[in-house]
Amino acid sequence: MNPLLARLHPYPFERWRELTSDIVPPAGLPTISLGIGEPRHATPALIEEALVRALPGLSSYPSTLGEPALREAIAGWVQRRYGVAVDPGTQVLPVNGSREALFAFAQTVIDPTRPGATVVCPNPFYQIYEGAALLAGAQTVFVPSDPARGFAADWGAVDEATWARTQLLYVCSPGNPTGAVMPLAEWRHLFELSDRHGFVIASDECYSEIYFSDEPPLGSLQAARALGRDAFPRLVAFTSLSKRSNVPGLRSGFVAGDAALLKAFLLYRTYHGSAMGPMVQRASAAAWNDETHVAANRELYRAKFAQVLPLLAGVLDVALPDAAFYLWAGIPGGGDEVAWARGLLAQYNVHVLPGRLLAREVPGHRPANPGQGRVRLALVAPIAECLEAARRIVSYTESLR
Ligand SMILES: Cc1ncc(COP(=O)(O)O)c(C=O)c1O
Repeated sequence: MNPLLARLHPYPFERWRELTSDIVPPAGLPTISLGIGEPRHATPALIEEALVRALPGLSSYPSTLGEPALREAIAGWVQRRYGVAVDPGTQVLPVNGSREALFAFAQTVIDPTRPGATVVCPNPFYQIYEGAALLAGAQTVFVPSDPARGFAADWGAVDEATWARTQLLYVCSPGNPTGAVMPLAEWRHLFELSDRHGFVIASDECYSEIYFSDEPPLGSLQAARALGRDAFPRLVAFTSLSKRSNVPGLRSGFVAGDAALLKAFLLYRTYHGSAMGPMVQRASAAAWNDETHVAANRELYRAKFAQVLPLLAGVLDVALPDAAFYLWAGIPGGGDEVAWARGLLAQYNVHVLPGRLLAREVPGHRPANPGQGRVRLALVAPIAECLEAARRIVSYTESLR
């Protein structure tokens, strides 16, 4: 067996199942889950129809590079969304959801034969970054989020010696679970570090289309272009249809950026067998070419947050995030959020995810585990269900006073 498999940590939902296996929630209250961040709005008909129309595609092997129509649809979307021109031939690749791409990219980029191969990740973070790093033979270094700056990552916590051995940096903007969006100044800082030390930046932007202000989140390609980095050196952006278009089952996204990195990634993907099915390619092109359903989807989230947040703000330390569909809420008194979440499940049959399950403990950081005292609430269920969950959380919190 590959010994590196033993270094993987159980997934947060698995841990939560273990931590609650002894709980029997009240039978009279239907279960509500704010735990899993899986979109639950309806898939737009135009995507389903495009998928069905493309069924004849079953009879042929797809190419890993993707069909020109899909690559052009993606490049067109990048141009409209970010005002950035990318070459559909060399600067774009379709991927089977951003998760597999975020994982596979580390296997392409990391050279485990160089001493101290390091991958830097935010903390809290999406667990795939860590698994990708460990299975590529690298070690992980975690960067704490700073509550005083809306949970932005505190890159200054990483010393120069660590940056010097870093081969890959994962960035998540808008962040999961914090919803924080990285401003241009932060990108400038990371690009300077990348220039100085030669590491690659993988920018996870899968929540880019769910936001609450009038200004869409800044994308990494947009930041690079604004700073005169026209060829996106050492930068690859990861974008997904799952949340934007409510198609988590389609498994579709794209990567875009540095052409030399994408050439190597294409080679890796060819051997790994990561070509996107022809039907998925056609449905994806239809999705990238339409923005009406994306605006409607965003409005559903905005309405939900506008109604749910005032209820929760009365009892939890919580604020409207920049983007994404999570609330990263502090529990009263900032105590043991695992015990708090277990109590909520036991008394009110509502699942939330304890913050420490989404983060790692780092000795010397304060707090050592940045998820401590916080819970992640995913507002993905229909509005009535989210409101009912919020009311139960209010009752639960008041019962503890
Ligand atoms: C931060 C982050 N990145 C990537 C993904 C993967 O999304 P997908 O593979 O559906 O594109 C998720 C899914 O929840 C996520 O939360």
